[in-house]
This record gives sequence, structure tokens and C-alpha cells, in this order.
Amino acid sequence: MLSQLIYTSQAHEDLTPEALQAIALAAARNNARVGVSGLLIYDQGCFLQVMEGEDAVILALYQRLKKDTRHTNVVKLIHEPIAQRRFAQWNMGLAAPKLGVQAEVGTVGLSTWSELLASHALQNLTEDRVRTVLDAFTQGRWHHHVVMRSADAVPPTRNAKDPALFIPGRQLSPAYREVLPASGPLFAFQPIVDFLTRRVSSYEALLRGPGGESPHSVLGAFTGEALHRFDLTSKVAALSIAQQLGTDARLSLNLLPKSLLADVNAVDFLVQAAARHGFTPDRIVLEVTEEEAITDPDMFADAVKRVRSAGMRVAIDDFGAGFAGLSLLADFQPDKLKIDRCIVQNVHESGPRQAIVRAIVEFCYCLGIVVVAEGVETVEEFNWLRRAGVNRIQGFLIARPALCALPPVQWQG
Ligand SMILES: Cc1cc2nc3c(=O)[nH]c(=O)nc-3n(C[C@H](O)[C@H](O)[C@H](O)COP(=O)(O)O)c2cc1C
Repeated sequence: MLSQLIYTSQAHEDLTPEALQAIALAAARNNARVGVSGLLIYDQGCFLQVMEGEDAVILALYQRLKKDTRHTNVVKLIHEPIAQRRFAQWNMGLAAPKLGVQAEVGTVGLSTWSELLASHALQNLTEDRVRTVLDAFTQGRWHHHVVMRSADAVPPTRNAKDPALFIPGRQLSPAYREVLPASGPLFAFQPIVDFLTRRVSSYEALLRGPGGESPHSVLGAFTGEALHRFDLTSKVAALSIAQQLGTDARLSLNLLPKSLLADVNAVDFLVQAAARHGFTPDRIVLEVTEEEAITDPDMFADAVKRVRSAGMRVAIDDFGAGFAGLSLLADFQPDKLKIDRCIVQNVHESGPRQAIVRAIVEFCYCLGIVVVAEGVETVEEFNWLRRAGVNRIQGFLIARPALCALPPVQWQG
């Protein structure tokens, strides 16, 4: 399968025209041997490269390239099958507008961006995505993003912006454990840490079975009304366990939006249960997934009004994993938006994920919505997210959920 891969990266150090030509000439020779065509642009210390060829060859080359110490912060923008090559005439076209580089690579020597634009290959690319990406790059629109990433290249164990942080955990007293009903639902707790205030902003209560079973298997035992009744009433156990554990932080409870509507007294029920366990309404965050939320927008809007007028907060959970998230946000703005793990995973290496997170941060900032990244598992993801302006982090990197306990937060800094 013929495919195309485009990435950006940052040069390890400012390159001389000779050093750049050396890279391009060696690359062109190798590319000719393995049937790769493409283009390399160097501008203000940043690279953008287009590679075309057999998919397996392109992927193997990309893996090698990522390890090349002459550049860092290699981030994939596009990787997709193509019907035909855009740059068949060059094993490695090269353009370095500011350096005035002349390189005899492939069959064409290029010196400036305007010469490149005037070339036959790009003339034929007027309606092409690649052309748009190249234009954006050479207009300097990528520069800020590529350079921003460079700070992530510092060794992951030293991070001046986020020094080491330790917040102790808490366990249930053995006496309370004994009074927990043997067949009732249990909850695991996972902190969401605010790295601006360096505190736990809330603990998310995650449903578990009496033997620690997954939420899926616990909820799978119910359907229809019984599911919504269980969903609502099980929160009493979460509140009770959280009270025993003792915390000043908020408590985040996952709720199916329909559970709020199945019972007209649902909101009052939650407010009263919270009060009995020492939680004022403003310390309760109801997390609903966007997928559930949009199945009936009117019902959902109604539920949100009731929750808000009772003084509780609302968060959209798993944002980016479901459908129509943006149309939902056009009509209703939650207090918090949690970016799903599928967007967070390997964000430091993925151009599309980075563009999405940056856009989320921007619109949430404008609308006063707090952004949380969930599913953060690596230091590289963490560093990228923090630099992009995400201050609240949840994930295994910070603390794993702990059954009937508040796990300690350990951030090495
Ligand atoms: C910005 C940049 C672009 C590169 N492009 C290519 C390329 O298109 N093809 C290639 O074979 N090597 C390219 N290289 C060099 C590779 O990273 C690597 O050094 C080369 O493939 C030899 O790999 P090896 O030492 O593992 O055999 C590039 C290096 C840099 C810094």
C-alpha cells in the first residue's frame, strides 16, 4: 500500500546550509534505494518532511528518523494511504527559504520557497491538503507549536514548572470496613490534581462491585428503570465512603443523565444524601458522558438546570470519545470538560491530537470552562499538556484509583 507521512520536528541546533545539504543528500540516496519520494522544508529551526512510499518502508524510516539526534520533538501530522505520489520526481526535495540552500537532490535542485512553489509538483497541488499544510508551515504558523514542544525535550525527571508533589492518601478504618454491606456497591477513588494550586481539586468516585468488579459488570446486572434507580441510589455509598475517608476536596460522581430524569426528586435526593454525609452541593460534581448527554438534548438541558439551581456542578466526561460534542457545547457549557484518554494518549507525538487539545483549551478558556485531561499515563504526555495550558490532570501517572481509599499523589517533578 502506498502511503504518505508528514511530520514536524525541531532541529537540535541551528543548521548551516552545509549540514542541511548533508542530511538531504544522504537521505535522497537512501530514499532512491528504498523507493521513497518526498520533500524536506527547513525554516527557523523547524523541519517539515513529507515522505511517500510503501507503507512498511515509510513506517520503518519514520522509526529510524525519530531516533536521529539531529532533531527532536518529532510529531506526526498526517499518515494515510494515497492513490499516487505528489512528489514522485524527488527522492528528497529540499527547501530552506532563509538559508538559500541549493541542493541537487533527486532530480531537482531547489533554493527558496518561491522556487518550490513555482515548481511543477506544487503547481499541481492547489486543492491538496498537503499543500495547505506546507503553506501554513512556511507562513510560520507551525513555528510556535513546534518550538513550544522543544521545552518538553528536557529530561522527563526534571520539570521546573511542576516540582515534586506529594499528597498523602487515606485508608478506611477497619471498623467502618466491617459495617459496609457485604453485597452493596463499592467505590474506588482517583484524584484530579490541580497543578496550579498543587492540590487535589476533586476525587472521582468510580463504581466497583462488592469484590472490586468493574463498573461494566456491576451496571450490566440492571436494565431500564432499575438501572437508573441503582445508578442514583448507589451514590449514597460513594458519599458515605468518601465521608469516612475525610477530605476537603470535591467529589465527582458519574451519573447517567437519564437517572436524573427518571425520578423527579433525583436532584433533591442527591443534595440531601450529600448533606447527610457532610458535602455541601458546591462540593459535588456530576460527571456525564457526552454520548449519554446528547441522546435527548431537551431532557439533558432540563436535568442540567435542576442540578445547577441546586448548586451542584456539572462536568462533561470522556469529551472527544462520543458524538456531537461541539453542538452540545454550543447550547450548554459545563463547569468542567474532561478530555478523553483517546485524545490524551501519546499527545506529545501526534499533530492531530495536539491541534484538538489546543482548540479545546482555547474555547474552554473563552467560556470559563475548566479543562481536565484524563488517562494521563506518561511524563511526556503530562509535560505537553501542562505546556498547552491544561492544569488539571487525572491518570495513572499521578495516582491509580484505590478501592475504598484515597490514594496518595506522588509526582516526582
Ligand atoms: C530532518 C531529517 C530528515 C531525514 N530524512 C531522511 C530520509 O528521508 N531518508 C533517510 O533515509 N534518512 C533520513 N534522515 C536520516 C535518518 O534519520 C538516519 O540517519 C538515516 O536513515 C540512517 O539511519 P541508520 O543510521 O539507522 O542506518 C533524516 C534525518 C533528519 C535529521
